[in-house]
Amino acid sequence: MTARIELTEAAPHQTLTLEFPADGVALTGRVRVPGDKSISHRALMLGAIALGETRIQGLLLGEDPRSTAACFQAMGVTLSSLEDEWVTVQGVGLGHLQEPADVLNAGNSGTTLRLMLGLLASHPDRLFTVTGDGSLRSRPMDRVIVPLTQMGAQIWGRQGNRLAPLAVRGQALKPIHYRSPVASAQIKSCLLLAGLMTEGDTTVTEPSLSRDHSERMLRAFGADISTDPDTCSVTVRGPATLTGQTVVVPGDISSAAFWLVAGAITPGSDLVVENVGINPTRTGILDALAAMEADITLENPREVTGEPVADLRVRHSRLKAATFGGDLIPRMIDEVPILAVAALFAEGTTVFTDAAELRVKECDRIAVMASQLTRLGARVEEHPDGLTVHGGARLTGTTVDSYHDHRIAMSMAIAALRADGPVQVQRAEAAAVSYPSFTSTLAQLCGLEGV
Ligand code: S3P
Repeated sequence: MTARIELTEAAPHQTLTLEFPADGVALTGRVRVPGDKSISHRALMLGAIALGETRIQGLLLGEDPRSTAACFQAMGVTLSSLEDEWVTVQGVGLGHLQEPADVLNAGNSGTTLRLMLGLLASHPDRLFTVTGDGSLRSRPMDRVIVPLTQMGAQIWGRQGNRLAPLAVRGQALKPIHYRSPVASAQIKSCLLLAGLMTEGDTTVTEPSLSRDHSERMLRAFGADISTDPDTCSVTVRGPATLTGQTVVVPGDISSAAFWLVAGAITPGSDLVVENVGINPTRTGILDALAAMEADITLENPREVTGEPVADLRVRHSRLKAATFGGDLIPRMIDEVPILAVAALFAEGTTVFTDAAELRVKECDRIAVMASQLTRLGARVEEHPDGLTVHGGARLTGTTVDSYHDHRIAMSMAIAALRADGPVQVQRAEAAAVSYPSFTSTLAQLCGLEGV
């Protein structure tokens, strides 16, 4: 039997069917992953509020950055076609976003909604209403509304100002020092963006360091940013003036993670993922796979517009179980689902702790990974803040559901590489949130044409 990968319409959704020969399939070749989602959002947003033109190469054309682009267009920002090799943003300048004529819709994107809220709350004399899809409307917004309110923001939402849709009446804000209970780049970035127009020092301290793309890019656009790595603190001094820049977006390590694990778990694999962002606040996945004795090498390290980049080569190897928790988790928060798949094929029992944040992502990723991997025949236990994954699994083909979460859909497809019999991933279209070409790239790496 040869490998089979098929996408079928089951309106309004898609089902992805994957079936592989009993002796497995080896993934070989070179692959490029789409642009980094976090950097794409930030390039669009900072471009929108800077003075002059921002040029962006390698922008992720996933649904999430498209949501960001649409929101800022609705506030008077002019963008070239997102399909252009170089996307241009004509910045309106800080404080000059227009009051939109309709509700802003962030779709599935927590980053769009939470980061944008910092800008909206600090734009005086305008009223904004913001919403999102069913998933986003169930995710906690109080984590940014509470500190913004301490800065003087006026924001109203459902369930005691916790959930979107939200109404925001922009205000001149006052600076605060916020000690965040969670390491979250969305909270940190929201407050830094609010601090741009706020006179004085706005400081955020986190329990451990989350991704620092905002700090790097704000500095490149001309903001006065200071960081203290020892206390995981960052300060922006307002009011700022930002100037349009050139941003080259590296490949997303969170998307590369699927190929790193696919290569690590399928015998005979040897592949190179080119042009991947390896910002140290994002490389927890590399540290975790190294601890599991995966064979991954870093080639051609370089720096591109303020972010470190490299090519990553992965070859199949025997994996060992490990325990992951603490400060490592924020550095690989989006990769826990695919690491749980790697853990299925490791020797021993892998434990993830301190990862309760996964319960408030696009779905409850702890509950969903436990239930869907169990459907495939794995032994996985769910904890309030993590998972226990028993290695040496024998997976059997069955139907699983993405819960309309992009990272669950792709994790299930990678697990299918080592399953006996066909796996059907329902609501597979979710992958387009961060990786629209995922299925065709998987087919290409498996030596199949035209999926
Ligand atoms: C992101 C931060 C993370 C991450 C998300 C993107 C960002 O969320 O899970 O996919 O771009 O700032 P939290 O800040 O909520 O941890």
